[in-house]
Amino acid sequence: MALRKRKIVLGVSGGIAAYKAVELLRLLTKERATVYVVMSANADKFVTPLTFEALSGNPVYHQVFDSASSSLMEHIRVAESADLLVVAPATASTIGKMANGLADDALSNLFAAFRGPVLIAPAMNDGMYANPAVKANIETMKGRGVEFIEPEHGELACGTIGPGRLVAPEILLEAVKRQLSLKNDLSKFRILVTAGPTHEPLDPVRYITNPSSGKMGFAVAHAARDRGAKVTLISGPTRLAVSEDVRFFSCRKASEMNELVHKQLPSCDVLIMTAAVGDFAPEQIEKEKIKKKGGESLVLKLVPTEDILLNVAEWKTGQFVVGFAAESENIIQSAIEKLHNKKLDFIVANDISAPGIGFQSDSNQVTFIDKEERIEQLPLLPKREIADHLLDRILSLISPADGRG
Ligand SMILES: Cc1cc2nc3c(=O)[nH]c(=O)nc-3n(C[C@H](O)[C@H](O)[C@H](O)COP(=O)(O)O)c2cc1C
Repeated sequence: MALRKRKIVLGVSGGIAAYKAVELLRLLTKERATVYVVMSANADKFVTPLTFEALSGNPVYHQVFDSASSSLMEHIRVAESADLLVVAPATASTIGKMANGLADDALSNLFAAFRGPVLIAPAMNDGMYANPAVKANIETMKGRGVEFIEPEHGELACGTIGPGRLVAPEILLEAVKRQLSLKNDLSKFRILVTAGPTHEPLDPVRYITNPSSGKMGFAVAHAARDRGAKVTLISGPTRLAVSEDVRFFSCRKASEMNELVHKQLPSCDVLIMTAAVGDFAPEQIEKEKIKKKGGESLVLKLVPTEDILLNVAEWKTGQFVVGFAAESENIIQSAIEKLHNKKLDFIVANDISAPGIGFQSDSNQVTFIDKEERIEQLPLLPKREIADHLLDRILSLISPADGRG
């Protein structure tokens, strides 16, 4: 039952080992995972979609230009909230597509759109596996944070002996569990996370905001959930899907987020504030849409919003509080000042001026700073991995006795 409530997308491509994917699907469903199968263009030459449909109890995505009910959009929506994409077996051809961003069948389309963790189990003839292009494709994907399960050495379907055989379904199942970090090491903790931007309205249609996508906070919430924590997520407007087993509150303005944090704080042990809360809001919200008056300028008076972190310093009753500092200059110094001024236990600093990281991006490069001003700089990593590193650090700083759940 270890995979209860986990949503897994199982990608199957056209290799002789596709029959092992059937067994893997059976093992996953036996552990109560919800599995959606996605097939490459040639996978149905080896196993029929009907087999996967019957065993998973869910529609199988195998044709891009399919009927409306099993359209690409529908499957991408399913994949958005999946915890893991596991591709087993992965052919040389499918690996090549995935490494190079090609999307011409159901599996490669879904992979291209998928943002969560990916586990790939290659299986192919030993000559193919030794091919420099295949090797380079695998290395490219590893460099992007994709996990691989090395194939076994053994007798291959083509009659030769060498590396290339798909590992046993039981080993794949273990790898899935490992990848989902079913460590349960946070099961004693109640974790409150804030995420996303805030919207400060000017009039019924306009508002002041920032480019925060919410991805960091959602990654923290889902990582904590995967490790057994009871998670509550408070988020400003985002386009992200939240898992059913995370308590979720949505809000718009900084004042609403402030109120929600105030209400939820007493029932948490750890608060992780990743939200990019607006610092200023229009003093007055116009009832009607503001009209342009010829060439006249519009002067807006902005007033400071609620400083949620500062309020938390007043409200907290022993919670471990983590702040995020998105800075564009004097990154470390500004973060250290924020850590002390807002009486935080820990701060995560990131440089929003660096291209390709931070807001909107799936990766980030951050620096951890604790109360003793010990600094740990992380490399560029997917946000989900940063989330797990952060949770590891928090866990090392709070004694298990702090858990009240
Ligand atoms: C009987 C048979 C077995 C095959 N087994 C493999 C295999 O194990 N690994 C592989 O990479 N390709 C294998 N191939 C070749 C792939 O099926 C072929 O490259 C195909 O284009 C892969 O398409 P797909 O990745 O869209 O499923 C096999 C082909 C045949 C006819």
